[in-house]
Amino acid sequence: MLRVGVIGVGGWTETCHIPGLQAHPEARVVALCGRSPERRQAQAERFGVPETYGDYEELLARAKVDAVTISTPNRWHFPVARAALAAGKHVFCEKPLTLHQAESAELLALAESRQLIHQVAFTFRFLYAAHEAQRLLQGGALGQLRHVVALTEWSGGLRPDAPARWRNDADLSGYGILGDMGSHLVDLARFVSGGEFRAVRGACWRIGRPERPDGERPGRLRAVTADDETEALCDLSGPGGDATVALRVSSLTPPPLRNHLEFLGDDGYLRLPYSRGETDTLMLGRNGAAPEPLPLPQEAAPATNHCLFKMMAAFVDACLGHPSPPPADQPATFADGHAAQRVLDAIAASARNGGPTAL
Ligand SMILES: NC(=O)c1ccc[n+]([C@@H]2O[C@H](COP(=O)([O-])OP(=O)(O)OC[C@H]3O[C@@H](n4cnc5c(N)ncnc54)[C@H](OP(=O)(O)O)[C@@H]3O)[C@@H](O)[C@H]2O)c1
Repeated sequence: MLRVGVIGVGGWTETCHIPGLQAHPEARVVALCGRSPERRQAQAERFGVPETYGDYEELLARAKVDAVTISTPNRWHFPVARAALAAGKHVFCEKPLTLHQAESAELLALAESRQLIHQVAFTFRFLYAAHEAQRLLQGGALGQLRHVVALTEWSGGLRPDAPARWRNDADLSGYGILGDMGSHLVDLARFVSGGEFRAVRGACWRIGRPERPDGERPGRLRAVTADDETEALCDLSGPGGDATVALRVSSLTPPPLRNHLEFLGDDGYLRLPYSRGETDTLMLGRNGAAPEPLPLPQEAAPATNHCLFKMMAAFVDACLGHPSPPPADQPATFADGHAAQRVLDAIAASARNGGPTAL
């Protein structure tokens, strides 16, 4: 039985970490950590978790846990993960792994030197559609890969009443929407293509209103300091040759919104919508014709919450030394979190310097 402490008691812990862990017959969530006593107590009661702590150092010192999961604002991922690894715990950490690559490199080295399990929550790897896209692309079904289009389009930033929270604060979130969703897109492009980013040219902007209603203190305004729009043109080197990537992450896009990756090869293209609440979809198009859906396993349906639960199960299985069945057999490690972090850092550096940045 794996005893797990969950650090962070917010929305994502509630949707993914705790239910995903509790769905595994060999895992028990034995402790929760969050700053607000009311929130952590309420979550502990809802999920039947016996212990709660207000400080992660205290949880690591006192709770009898083999592993922790970290779902705090991004700024805290590094200190919490470092302390957990130093205490000999396996670590599952949210994305983006850290705020910059010096931190992610340190975590990777520490986890490897301690021979602990280390995984990053690149959720969309666990879509059946992502595995099928990987199989087709790396099996040569598209011929030579030439170009990838990676898009996150949200409209929330267009609403003046949208509350500002930690994600909109550069000190807590780091790269704003680039860190939040760009990290997922970079990982999916690497995962599906098997390639690595080699050079990037990027632009990062904060375009929306500089102040919005404070999501944590009703009646007050909060400064928006994190970027809400990033565009980047990137070079990718893959097993089958070189390709380009056009990445756009935006919270200021009027509907209809596109949230997908497209992989364009000499012999056709794949469109991979990513979503964790809907049935997986993967589309294949040939000769410029409209793409058609490809068959996927029955399990690729929304009711089973497959994507999130497989991700959490993969962590538990790895900690217990069990092999995971596909599509949970390629969880993202801190090496993947570090690789994505290097790409984000390079895009941000290019945006500051105005020229391309090599990786
Ligand atoms: N993989 C995915 O697809 C996915 C999806 C959603 C979110 N995420 C990631 O999950 C993380 C959390 O996001 P969220 O939406 O759940 O945020 P959230 O709802 O704001 O929750 C954040 C939680 O962290 C706690 N916290 C803040 N500082 C802390 C500290 N120093 N020590 C311990 N706990 C602390 C907060 O405590 P209080 O409540 O007491 O303030 C709160 O419980 C982020 O890194 C985000 O990028 C990933």
